[in-house]
Amino acid sequence: MSEPAVDVVEFLVTAHTYTEDEELDEGDLPPRFRQVFWSDGSIERPLAVTQDRARTATGVDHPWDAVSDLLFTQRTEFSGEISLTQPDMALEWLLDRVEDDRMASNPTLAYAARDEDGVSVTREEARADNQPIQADRVWIDSLLDEYFDEEEDAEMLDLVHILAPEEIETTLDDLVLTNDQSNEVQKIVTAIENRDYLASIGLSEIGKILFVGPPGTGKTTISRGLAHELGLPFVEVKLSMVTSQYLGETAKNVEKTFEVAKRLSPCILFIDEFDSVAKTRKSDEHAALKRAVNTLLKSIDDISLVRDEVLTVAATNHPDQLDAAAWRRFDEVVNFPKPDQQMRSDILRIVTRDMQMAEFDPDAVAEETEGLTGSDLRMVLREAVLQALTEGRRELTQEDVMDAVQGFEERDNLKNMDMIDGEGAAIAGDGGHDHDHDHDHDHDHDH
Ligand SMILES: Nc1ncnc2c1ncn2[C@@H]1O[C@H](COP(=O)(O)OP(=O)(O)O)[C@@H](O)[C@H]1O
Ligand SMILES: [Mg+2]
Repeated sequence: MSEPAVDVVEFLVTAHTYTEDEELDEGDLPPRFRQVFWSDGSIERPLAVTQDRARTATGVDHPWDAVSDLLFTQRTEFSGEISLTQPDMALEWLLDRVEDDRMASNPTLAYAARDEDGVSVTREEARADNQPIQADRVWIDSLLDEYFDEEEDAEMLDLVHILAPEEIETTLDDLVLTNDQSNEVQKIVTAIENRDYLASIGLSEIGKILFVGPPGTGKTTISRGLAHELGLPFVEVKLSMVTSQYLGETAKNVEKTFEVAKRLSPCILFIDEFDSVAKTRKSDEHAALKRAVNTLLKSIDDISLVRDEVLTVAATNHPDQLDAAAWRRFDEVVNFPKPDQQMRSDILRIVTRDMQMAEFDPDAVAEETEGLTGSDLRMVLREAVLQALTEGRRELTQEDVMDAVQGFEERDNLKNMDMIDGEGAAIAGDGGHDHDHDHDHDHDHDH
């Protein structure tokens, strides 16, 4: 149970205590409170409690009305700021009305109450449970405001995409991993937990990983899942955006991206389509692009998990295009093969977890889907669901799924055809993609 007056007084006591005691930092404020005080990546003292801030932080519609009857509150007529006339009395009043669990979610309050009787939660305990600032979307946005002005914004948004861990929907539990991949994830988590130790023994050259494998094998998803799991921001750079078009200040923006990653740290920096580096190095591209790519490679060299608390993950679909110089920058390479039969079966189980399945044999489907990736299997199931829906059904049968597999493979064949001279040039009805299932086997695996 929570009364508006208690909520607002908690906010006032917290703001007051934080303002008075320099020892407290952002990690002592609960996310719901600190979100209203961020400006350009920092929180400046004093914390002024305006009506708007109090409303957003507490969810109480009329904060002043909720506390105006209390003897220890006041409102400045001109600015509308609410404050405490007698902070000690406010704290006593509050402690009579809150339980330990509220203290446990507010390190500043636990700190304010440290000398009071009957308080069993310490600031340290509350801090350990409090969400780190890196996980707050509001903090990330305020930091980006500091780095990029509005003109640069559009350009940067093409280049980097930042997710707060709370915004990441797929988790590691949604993925079927090879043993190699699971071990690697475990190694990364352990390294991050022990980075102080690693630094102390001089092992700073770790934390740069290359994910190699065909599209749709989970490289992006596992990286995001890691960010979610570790509660770290996810900074994603699409390298084709750096190399495929001329962006005014690309080299500078690459530098800024790494600066942002360092400021956001601890975080995960994910560099997708890493092979586009190699392409640029070979051809004689625009000098500005060369500079951008060189900046990128140098930035990767300079960044460190142990020193900067940035885990760098790069991904490529085309390992053959990477030269030795590019390979050398990574201390771990993880293979993302197409899933084998057992993995396909497990993926199918996960994908259909929340679907209504009448009779479904994932093993049998797995047997028929050699060569399909996790992404392909997801697409197959989506097709099956949509097809059943058009027939007015929500429940899926084995047949629905097998039909969707068939449909997928036909589409896949079409995609690979030579559309000018080859079979793909055929006119509908000539057998290019007919609707007669009896003939399907004739040209199924031609390509
Ligand atoms: N091993 C897997 N287990 C479960 N789902 C997978 C797997 N591999 C891919 N997927 C699914 O396929 C989709 C695309 O994966 P993605 O991470 O974008 O692949 P990549 O980055 O390698 O191209 C995601 O929705 C993901 O959940
Ligand atoms: Mg990807």
